[in-house]
Amino acid sequence: MKIAVLPGDGIGIEIITEAVKVLNVLDLPLELEWADVGGKAYDNHGHPLPEATLNLAKAADAVLFGAVGDWKYDKLERQFRPEQAILGLRKGLGLFANFRPALCYPELTHASSLKPELVAGLDILIIRELTGDIYFGQPRGRRTAVDGHFPGSEEAFDTMRYSRPEIERIAHVAFQAAMKRGKKLTSVDKANVLETSQLWKDVMTEIHAQYPEVALDHMYVDNAAMQLVKAPKKLDVVVTGNMFGDILSDEAAMLTGSIGMLPSASLDKNNKGLYEPSHGSAPDIAGKGIANPLATILSAAMMLKFSLQQPDAAARIEAAVQSVLAQGLRTADIWSEGTTKVSTREMGDAVATAITTIKTIK
Ligand code: IPM
Ligand code: MN
Repeated sequence: MKIAVLPGDGIGIEIITEAVKVLNVLDLPLELEWADVGGKAYDNHGHPLPEATLNLAKAADAVLFGAVGDWKYDKLERQFRPEQAILGLRKGLGLFANFRPALCYPELTHASSLKPELVAGLDILIIRELTGDIYFGQPRGRRTAVDGHFPGSEEAFDTMRYSRPEIERIAHVAFQAAMKRGKKLTSVDKANVLETSQLWKDVMTEIHAQYPEVALDHMYVDNAAMQLVKAPKKLDVVVTGNMFGDILSDEAAMLTGSIGMLPSASLDKNNKGLYEPSHGSAPDIAGKGIANPLATILSAAMMLKFSLQQPDAAARIEAAVQSVLAQGLRTADIWSEGTTKVSTREMGDAVATAITTIKTIK
């Protein structure tokens, strides 16, 4: 099993190092190949997603990704900015289905900005379409306006678009995920205003006929943003487009109090995938050894489950993470009175040690 390991920028290298440490104690036949991506790749090779990195990712069975981005690249032309690397990988590998679980660990309930009773036991899965929508829609650009409110002035425009097959395939992914969980799916759109959303809603409703056991409801995105902070536990699986999913998944992540805990998976039609923490590169704390590696470690577990058919190994990692939390070990982002503050490396070591004591999972 070949894994492309792309640490990227900021805290990327620190968190990936711990995830790789954890993978290594599992004693699986994994072949890891490392490559630069993001700002690091721009510095070393003149492009945030060099051909060699993209080809390595394409050839691998899965990609383990750290994070990209740093303020020092903000002035670069868009095509050279670190974020283009992750967008290019999503598009280049056809990773249209993005899984973003928001799980509130019992030990961390108090870390949420919401009242504990609203988030205790929270377990939401946001499925975000990842290769369409306004992120990739053409045309886009800048020009001189010929009409609108201010003809003759500079304007910028992006295009929100979705085709039926793009919506159909993410709908199937979402309904199948719902079948494996609580059989409840909420499709989020803005069909009261947008054509793309009306098509989205129509297609979701049509595909629903193939999954009669799933309860489907539709929610406008503004309402969804509100429900997430009002009664998040009423949601189970949420499916939405690229832009709304970007925003709602950050909101959902914060409900759990700890974006440093949340993994994500981006899958293609064959379940080949890219796995990354839901958080970013956090350049402000890079190199300090205080970043939380658990989101990346849990992303490695998702990789074993979704792309490498190693559910037992994945379960061992998840159990090891539960166990270090139960031991009271906390990186700074999730630390509270009465718990033990540990560094990035100490956290990775603790998970690796816990794994060796968890042999099989029932
Ligand atoms: C994410 C990030 C990316 C996105 C950025 C870095 C391009 O915010 O993965 O959610 O907007 O998709
Ligand atoms: Mn985002």
